[in-house]
Amino acid sequence: MVTTSEVMQPDLFENKPADTPGGGSSETPRPLPVPSAKIQRKLEELKHAIRRHDELYYVQSRPEISDAAYDKLFRELQDLEKQYPELVTPDSPTQRVGGTPLAQFSKVTHEFPLLSLDSEMDEESVLAFDQRVLRDLDVDQVSYTAEPKYDGLSVELTYDKGIFVRGATRGDGAIGEDVTHNLRTIRALPLQLREGETYSSHLVVRGEVFMKLTDFHTLNRRLTEQGEEPFANPRNASSGTLRQLDPAITATRPLTITCYDFMSPGAGRPSTHFEAVTRLNAWGLPIPQFRRQCRSIQETLEFHREMFEQRDMLPFEIDGIVVKVDRFDWQQALGEKSRSPRWAIAFKFPPRKELTKVRQIAVSVGRTGALTPIALLDPVEIGGVTVSRASLHNVEEVARKDVRVGDTVKVERAGDVIPDVIERVPVPGEKRGPPFQPPTTCPVCQSHTIQEGPILYCTGQTVCSAQLKGSLEHFASKSALNIEGLGKKTVAQLVDKGLVKELSDLYTLHIDDLLRLEGFADKSARQLLGAIEKSKDVSFPRLLIGLGIRHVGTHIARVLAKELGSLDNLKKATEEELLQIHDIGPEIAASVTHFFQESRNLMVWQRMESLGVRVQQEASASEPHAQPLRGKIFVLTGTLKGYSRQEAKNKIEELGGRVTSSVSKQTDYVVVGEDPGSKFDSATKLGVRILDEKEFSLLSQSENLEPSSSNE
Ligand code: IVH
Repeated sequence: MVTTSEVMQPDLFENKPADTPGGGSSETPRPLPVPSAKIQRKLEELKHAIRRHDELYYVQSRPEISDAAYDKLFRELQDLEKQYPELVTPDSPTQRVGGTPLAQFSKVTHEFPLLSLDSEMDEESVLAFDQRVLRDLDVDQVSYTAEPKYDGLSVELTYDKGIFVRGATRGDGAIGEDVTHNLRTIRALPLQLREGETYSSHLVVRGEVFMKLTDFHTLNRRLTEQGEEPFANPRNASSGTLRQLDPAITATRPLTITCYDFMSPGAGRPSTHFEAVTRLNAWGLPIPQFRRQCRSIQETLEFHREMFEQRDMLPFEIDGIVVKVDRFDWQQALGEKSRSPRWAIAFKFPPRKELTKVRQIAVSVGRTGALTPIALLDPVEIGGVTVSRASLHNVEEVARKDVRVGDTVKVERAGDVIPDVIERVPVPGEKRGPPFQPPTTCPVCQSHTIQEGPILYCTGQTVCSAQLKGSLEHFASKSALNIEGLGKKTVAQLVDKGLVKELSDLYTLHIDDLLRLEGFADKSARQLLGAIEKSKDVSFPRLLIGLGIRHVGTHIARVLAKELGSLDNLKKATEEELLQIHDIGPEIAASVTHFFQESRNLMVWQRMESLGVRVQQEASASEPHAQPLRGKIFVLTGTLKGYSRQEAKNKIEELGGRVTSSVSKQTDYVVVGEDPGSKFDSATKLGVRILDEKEFSLLSQSENLEPSSSNE
């Protein structure tokens, strides 16, 4: 960012007295006054006072001065900075709104993958989680920290020497978007950590950005008055606001933030999560209200009950609680799966429910050909969201619930999931319509339908445009081939115009084809073709996800890729062989082998290969481990507790990294143990990423550094 001080160097003016020839003319800028030490002190005092009042108001919720008194301080600072622009620093409270709109967000590779959480809906599953934890740790009791689960967007904040330097969205967990300019507008977020505190010179903080309910309603009212579309819920409003290219707009839409974790080398870490969060607060960062250190799982269940009762009284949306093993050494011992830790879960609240009427029952066709009956409803608000469609799942469910057009039904919404019709609610004296008739032909392609178990399928795999559209959308989606610009609308056009008749046709598209589509101009067409071209170099797990094999999601795709190493090996694998792999059950094994027995699926892949699609080289089955640290250069300094120098070196090399003895710009990570030497200072100076021992262990277990992330 270009700061004012970079634009106006003080010495530009200092050496030119006002009375030099022409100095007084209207064209020549008047020289700026040179700030005295007194002025500089005043400026610092004002900044300090404003920061303190921001923290008291936004973080501690106990303001000490009136709004008017605060505004006065703020104006005083603004006036002084206007007089002495060279003294404006990026961490000044006046710099929260600034800069010009961005053309696009730049990408940020997270220093540590941002994991998500497995969700549990009932006490039984939470008790089972506790049992797993006790068993894995081989202990009788574990303390947990329980926190509200804020319904917002997770972000990563970076503080260097206590100054907020960068903030990014979660993205796909490995790569997010740089939203620093928007995060700066959040008053609860300190641009500088509290002075006089001790923290690491490089600090990575995790938190959740959200919008308070009153702010959300005010914003929606304003948008409606301006003839703009209101946001469906506070979470969408937060996301839309944080991903605004113009920070001036963001600043008019009040977001707030809570922080729940940090990674900090050097200064060390307390031994529990609870203490770590307390420390965040001591540094001036806002932390979850109502968190609790629980001595047993029973106490977390009690916390869940209490939060559930308070839910509707809270000034913000929460959708459950998060339960985390409190001790960091135990967290580390439990480890992580591909996308979520084994030491934490989200214990969600039961969904909210409302009554409404069924206007019509429509049928949608998904990528697998499954027909899903959908109830089109009289719009009803459920927990802040207007719901006008709800899933009836399958024809057997419709029959079992006996839902008909005109019926009154109970509808429930669980977080992001599409709402469900739970049951019909009989109304005395109502005149009911005829029962729902399952369609004998596909509503999209008119092929015959067949029933398998409770589900009705369209038999027109190769001719049904709905199936093809679904497959294409899935193929191009973020977790699969990640083809930017190939969304629902474009997919629909490509299929409807007959330009794509099967997945591999994507790789035969020509610029003229795209220019015929609505909404495409030369630039956007080239961009999409570029994105398609880029997707030809695909990691094995992403390809597996993209092919849309039933039951093969992100985690299973990674497991298969890791265990089998290549598509050829996977094609040859028998059900029995697949069943030997941890995490692969009979349903998955059957689905994978059936997929590769189907010659049409093989032909689609062969055609893709002939059009240039290539699977990036993965660690092969014969190698003992994947190489998440491939190509990374490490420097070690200080004493590590869990590893000798040689062990740490071996570990890095085993995972594909290299250890060198001195820090340079080429160094990717400096691992810092106790009593680090001068390498630590060099790393700080050069801005090289610093890892403490825990972070190093986490990183060396991480799968998110695999080549799939370079696909972005
Ligand atoms: S901890 C590895 N704590 O919930 C642990 N997450 O489904 C990562 N969230 O992506 C998350 N409040 O966006 C944690 N107190 C809290 C949270 C919280 C909200 C969100 C966060 C995360 C998602 C997990």
